[in-house]
Amino acid sequence: MVTMISVVVGMQFGDEGKGKITDYLCSNYDDVVRFNGGNNAGHTVVIDGKKIKFHLIPSGAMQAGTVVLGNGMVIDPLKLLDEIKQLKLAKDNIKIVISGRAGVVTELHRILDKKEEELRSNSSIGTTSQGIGPAYEDKYGRLSIKMYDLNSIKKIKDKLNQLIAMKGLLTGPVDIDRVSNELYSAGSELYEYIGDASEFLEDEYRLGKNILFEGAQGAMLDIDFGTYPFVTSSNTVAGSVSTGSGFSFRRVEDVIGVFKAYTTKVGSGIFPTEIGSDDLRIAGNEYGTTTGRPRRTGWLDLPILRYAAYLNDVNRLAITKLDILGKLNQIKVGTSYIIDGKDYERFPDKIDPESEITVNYETFETWGDISSRISGYLGSGYDALPYNMRKYIEFIEDSLNCSIDIISLGEDRKSTIVK
Ligand code: GDP
Ligand code: IMO
Ligand code: MG
Repeated sequence: MVTMISVVVGMQFGDEGKGKITDYLCSNYDDVVRFNGGNNAGHTVVIDGKKIKFHLIPSGAMQAGTVVLGNGMVIDPLKLLDEIKQLKLAKDNIKIVISGRAGVVTELHRILDKKEEELRSNSSIGTTSQGIGPAYEDKYGRLSIKMYDLNSIKKIKDKLNQLIAMKGLLTGPVDIDRVSNELYSAGSELYEYIGDASEFLEDEYRLGKNILFEGAQGAMLDIDFGTYPFVTSSNTVAGSVSTGSGFSFRRVEDVIGVFKAYTTKVGSGIFPTEIGSDDLRIAGNEYGTTTGRPRRTGWLDLPILRYAAYLNDVNRLAITKLDILGKLNQIKVGTSYIIDGKDYERFPDKIDPESEITVNYETFETWGDISSRISGYLGSGYDALPYNMRKYIEFIEDSLNCSIDIISLGEDRKSTIVK
């Protein structure tokens, strides 16, 4: 059999349902790897009605043999320990490899995150307050504590003192002894998992193992390609698999772009198709997995999807939450923008906050509330899906020139149709 090396990426503003799709796909993969972000991510997986939330551990953990946390991540060791303990209640035999090169997120970073947001005042980003931005600032400032430092209390203290010296004005007084001891103690429990994740993946590849890389966040939150400055602090696009895990980009052949049947966003920044529908928020339970904040809601945005499809070079698509969209009486899709009089089919590289954006919409007929019919659809496959739903799916496929192979009709793993 041919080895499968795949990447799952979000095509919107995060929370597209990457966790659900990753878990679903992982029956076919040996290893599942995170390569970016930290516990700003929140991924919910539902298996036979049982909900599992992932923040740092890849969402394929229930099915894949080994979970890998790559060097491109920033990891809060205390949060990771908690997550591992929770996961062990659901699955006792779990193999974990954590890259020693991943950056450590500390209490200082969380304090800095909040302080930076306060200082931004009117232009605050609406971060998850998990210290992600400041932890990546330290990575690029060459100040990070790395996961492999956690076995030395001296290294931890020296690096924390260096951080305080350089950023002390913003953090205010912090009890370095306490923070160092907490990190060291978490490190002593995590150290058995810490190693060279890149070498592990290389060995797995040579053994012919199937590897799935799971992106966190989405294309519009990418630090380079998203709606800067209202983005996260890492690269979220498929290209960052290599720098975030040490696995060669020449081997990745399958990029699965995940998108929700409509659009949501948590935090500030431009959202052209926003409608702010309470109906959609309530029907879709659109509240952040990490922060519990209400998600902003809007129609599907094709300029965003065209942009994300090309940035990630996706070869297949997964659509989620069609069951939720059907509950609305009227459905619209943003097909293109007019910005300051100019037409755009694809999200442009820059939109001036002062610019006037008009979105052109196409209207679709609803397929109604399918909740009582889902199990019937699962047994019968794509052709038995409601006509209006198939029309919606096929319109998107034509617009993106890419096939939607995976169709998600509910939160549970089994509520999934593969074409
Ligand atoms: P992620 O960050 O991309 O993994 O997405 P989240 O897990 O943060 O948010 C997606 C939410 O939608 C989760 O609560 C999922 O359980 C849920 N979900 C995923 N797919 C579907 C679907 O097709 N239908 C419904 N009703 N819920 C879904
Ligand atoms: P998953 O992996 C949705 C958003 C935050 C904020 C911005 C910056 O679950 O899709 P950060 O804390 O990263 O500095 O916040 O990015 N954000 C997410 N939104 N899903 C996520 O992850 C997100 N991770 C960060 O709301 O607007
Ligand atoms: Mg999420």
